Amino acid sequence: MPESPPLPPPPPAAPARRRLTRRRLLKAGLIGTSATVVATAGTMAWLWTSSDASTAGQVRFVNRLAIPPLDSGRLDGSGRRVFDLRAAAGSRRWLPGRPTATWGFDGGHLGPTLRAARGETVLVNVRNDLAETTTVHWHGMHLPAVMDGGPHQPIAAGGTWHPTWRIDQPAATLWYHPHPHGRTGRHVYLGMAGMFILDDPQAAPPGLPARYGVDDIPVIVQDKNFDGDNQLSESTPLVGGIGILGGTLMVNGTLAPYLDVVAQRTRLRLLNASTSRTYRFGLADGRPFEIVGSDGGLLPAPHTTDRVQLSAGERAEIVVTLRPGERVVLRSFPPDLGTDFWTSRVTGGDDTMDVLELRAAARLEPSPALPGALAEPPALGAADGEPDRRFELAGFEINGRGMDMDRIDFGVVTGRTEVWEISNVDMLPHNFHVHGAQFQVLSVGGAAPPPELRGWKDTVYTPGDAPIRIAVRFGGHTDPDTPYMFHCHLLYHEDLGMMGQFVVTEPGQRPGRPASPRHAGHG
Ligand code: C2O
Ligand code: CU
Ligand code: CU
Repeated sequence: MPESPPLPPPPPAAPARRRLTRRRLLKAGLIGTSATVVATAGTMAWLWTSSDASTAGQVRFVNRLAIPPLDSGRLDGSGRRVFDLRAAAGSRRWLPGRPTATWGFDGGHLGPTLRAARGETVLVNVRNDLAETTTVHWHGMHLPAVMDGGPHQPIAAGGTWHPTWRIDQPAATLWYHPHPHGRTGRHVYLGMAGMFILDDPQAAPPGLPARYGVDDIPVIVQDKNFDGDNQLSESTPLVGGIGILGGTLMVNGTLAPYLDVVAQRTRLRLLNASTSRTYRFGLADGRPFEIVGSDGGLLPAPHTTDRVQLSAGERAEIVVTLRPGERVVLRSFPPDLGTDFWTSRVTGGDDTMDVLELRAAARLEPSPALPGALAEPPALGAADGEPDRRFELAGFEINGRGMDMDRIDFGVVTGRTEVWEISNVDMLPHNFHVHGAQFQVLSVGGAAPPPELRGWKDTVYTPGDAPIRIAVRFGGHTDPDTPYMFHCHLLYHEDLGMMGQFVVTEPGQRPGRPASPRHAGHG
C-alpha cells in the first residue's frame, strides 16, 4: 500500500442519496474481489472517494427529534422501583415506501429512558417477545454479576428475566442494550438500546439544566445503512475491519432531526449507541460549549471546548448556549482515531456528518449560570509504578485470546484498586469497556488525561499510539462463578471475540467456573 493514497479532486457536492448509492456499489464491488482490486491505483482512488461519508451541509432537518418516553417505573409494596421492559420486533416508516423492520423495547425501536435515584432498589421485568434469545445489559451500572445482563444471563424467546439491584453510584447517563454471545452488534443495530439515567439528589449541583425533554435532552446517535428495499443493511465492507459504518445518522431514531430549543442553556446527553463509528461532536459554527459529564457521572468542573469525541458506547453530557431565534447544527467532525492515514480513511476518520439542528425559539427562558464545581474527582490512584494487569488489543483478541464463555481470565479482589494498562497494538480503531464498575483514567500515552476524561468512565478509546492506564476498583458484589466482561465496544469486534471475563472475589477466594448460561438468571 502506498504511504499516501492519491488525493482525488474534491467530489462535487452530491445529494446524500447519490452518496448512499455509491457506497452500496462500493460494497457490491468489493465483495469477492478486494484482494485484486486494491492493487490498482485507479481503484485506490475510487475507494478513497467512496469511503468518505460526509453529509455536512446536505441534511435538510425536517423531522422533529423524538424524545424517548421517560419511564420512572412504579414503587411496589416494599419500596422497590419496578420497571417493565418488553423486547419485540417492530417497524418504522423512515423512508418513502416500505416500512423498515426494527427491533426494540416497548415500541419496536430503541426503548424508554429508565430513571432511578441513588439508594433505590430497582427491579426490571424484562420480557423477550423476539423470536430469538437476547439479554439486557445495564452498561455502566455497579451491580452483581448475575444481574449484569451479559452473555451469561440469556433470556430465551418468550422468556422473562427479573434482575434487581440497589443503585449505589453517582448520578450518570448510563444505557441498556442486549449482549447475547456473538450477536450484540446485530441486536443493537436493529434498534435495541435505551438510556438509563441515574440521579443523586444528595449531590445535584444547582444550575444544571435538568428538565427531561425540555432543557435536558437525550441524544442517542446511531449510523445506519439502508438497502434498496428500505431495510437496515447489515452487510459489512471487506475493507475497514470495523463492521458497519453507516452513511445515514439518526438521533433517538429520528432521521434528519431538529430540536426546538426553549431555554438559553440546553443539556445534551450524548450517547454513541452506534456499532462501530466514532463521532467527534462540535457545533457547525465553531462556538464553544461546556462538557459537564462523562460515562459515569459529572466531571469535577465544566470544561469549555469546541469538540468532544465519543467512540462506541461512550457518553458525554454537554451544555450548549443559544441566542433567541438562531439555528445551529450539531455536527460530527473527522474523529482523531490515532491510527494510520489509510485505516483512518476507511474507518470513518475522514467523515463529517450532520447530526441534529438546534432551533432556538424567538424567546428563550433564562437559564442560571453553570456551577463552577460539579462533582468530586475520582481519586483511585496514580499513574506511576507497574500496572497490575496489561491488556493488548490486536487481531480481534485481547492478550492473544478470543472470548470463551467457559474461561475466566482473572479474578479481582473486592475493594482493591488495580491499575490496568491497555494498549492497542494493531492498526484498527478499538476501545475498552469494563463491566461492573466505573474507572479513572490515569494517563493517555504517559500524559495526564485531557479534562473530558477526568471523570468516571466505563469505556475509553484506545488510540494505536498511546497506551491508556486506568485505575479500577470493584466493590461489594463478589461472585467467584459469574463473570463480568471486558471488551472492545466496537460491537463487530466484540462479537468476533474481542472480549474476556473476570470475576470479583473475596480476599483469599479463587475464581471458580462460570455457571452454565442455561441455568443462570431466570426467575
Ligand atoms: Cu455496552 Cu459489554 O457492553
Ligand atoms: Cu457494559
Ligand atoms: Cu475493536
